[in-house]
Amino acid sequence: MTAPWWQASVIYQIYPRSFQDTNNDGIGDLRGIECRLDYLVSLGVDAIWISPIYPSPMVDFGYDVADYCGVDPRFGTLADFDALLMQAHRRGLKVLLDFVPNHTSDRHPWFVESRTSKENQKRNWYIWRDPAADGGPPNNWISDFGGSAWEWDKVTRQYYYHAFLKEQPDLNWRHPDVQAAMYDVMRFWFDRGVDGFRIDVLWHMLKAADFPDNPPNPAYRSEMGEMHRLLQLHSTDQPEVHGIAAEMREIADSYGAMGRGKRVLLGEIYLPVERLMHYYGGERPGVHLPLNFQLIDTQWEGRALATLITDYEAALPLDGWPNWVLGNHDRPRVATKRGQAQARVAAVLLLTLRGTPTLYYGDELGLSDVAIEPSQVRDPRELREPGLGLGRDPVRTPMPWDASENAGFTTAKPWLPSNADSLTRNVARMTEESQSILTLYRRLLALRRDCLALSIGEFVLLNVEDEILVYQRRYDAQRLIVALNLGGQARRLQLPDWARDSRLLLSTVEDAALVEGDAVLLRSNEAVVLEA
Ligand code: GLC
Repeated sequence: MTAPWWQASVIYQIYPRSFQDTNNDGIGDLRGIECRLDYLVSLGVDAIWISPIYPSPMVDFGYDVADYCGVDPRFGTLADFDALLMQAHRRGLKVLLDFVPNHTSDRHPWFVESRTSKENQKRNWYIWRDPAADGGPPNNWISDFGGSAWEWDKVTRQYYYHAFLKEQPDLNWRHPDVQAAMYDVMRFWFDRGVDGFRIDVLWHMLKAADFPDNPPNPAYRSEMGEMHRLLQLHSTDQPEVHGIAAEMREIADSYGAMGRGKRVLLGEIYLPVERLMHYYGGERPGVHLPLNFQLIDTQWEGRALATLITDYEAALPLDGWPNWVLGNHDRPRVATKRGQAQARVAAVLLLTLRGTPTLYYGDELGLSDVAIEPSQVRDPRELREPGLGLGRDPVRTPMPWDASENAGFTTAKPWLPSNADSLTRNVARMTEESQSILTLYRRLLALRRDCLALSIGEFVLLNVEDEILVYQRRYDAQRLIVALNLGGQARRLQLPDWARDSRLLLSTVEDAALVEGDAVLLRSNEAVVLEA
């Protein structure tokens, strides 16, 4: 097999605050991740991506970085990180970190310096502008968390730009010193041995040089959140950003020849498919995996899914490798969006599509969004625009490990409450259950590892109906058929001739489907993998 490791891998996202606490402060930590590595190996994933662990005031829970080359004491120390990395590598697991290049914390020494005076040598490391003629903000840009994206600084009498919170000033990536400093950060972690980065809000990194107003969004409705009042035409996705992605790629590739193998870059990019594709790069390669979030929001319907998959496949550049995401720390959980029965079908879809899947911690347990009392809300997104359902606390709750107090996550008060059903929905219990979604995930991951057809094989669409999606995956002589029943009706599906009497490899339901010659009988909400 010649595919690079990250193409055949499944990446598991860990939200470190919520995975495992070992120092009894109610917040997860690096030693916690280390002591759960064997779980990840038994689950069958290949790589972990850890959301930010750097020193941070935690106004946006680590996405406000105060030092790119350290570890926040709440998570541990650099030595803990090195130990985690070593233990992960010993088990054959790759480790990706979250790189947050678009903005720093307002407590980062660079910004502290930058705001001291207009003449400061780091002034232009951030985006400072004079007020508009009326004394107001320089333009109409809106923060992704609501409100103006400009903050007035009364000391130096200028505004600074923040795409997110005012505590997260945007770096000025047009400044060569900023670029150099941030590329050094990447080298710092690559030198330590990390296998790659997930790059936070990559499409935000450059803004139109003359800062024109953004146009209104004709489709805006207030429940979308204020950021959607405008189209982010000039504040995001500027063509020059591809040059930055290419520079980052060059740095990653410069490590490829070393013993530990190639490094990988994932880009967080919420854009329509055509624009997403540019992040693969042109003449100069861009990031390896511009993240594809389409499965999260699509209509859960055969034709919609088929169109999405085939359009995405068709749009990929020649050597562009696909990827699929079902959940992350910003979006509602799949079990909440699709329900428990279809969360199992979704697991099959995620792990049998062509491309690198990322799996969000807890989704393998069918964890749902956890209801958070108003007094317990922690997420600044919810605090700034309450009640719209934009808050992210519900998907960041502690990983339930067992039926002990606080689900085995901590012996202290957890920073967010555990899922109400943690007595039964936990790793220990579901490991014992032959029909649990956890067992299904383990079987799927094992199957994917065994079958190159599933990890790197070709994808061919076979059959689509309102509630049915059937496709083929093939590699060399191996031909697999994946059939998904997206609804509650049992169905009899005709198999192509070459698939007569196929062998059932896996099903999502106990009373599994029957293959009868040239037909397969699918139960309600059943997904199957067959081998021809
Ligand atoms: C990304 C992160 C999100 C964070 C934002 C600002 O979208 O995924 O959690 O709040 O960037 O850094």
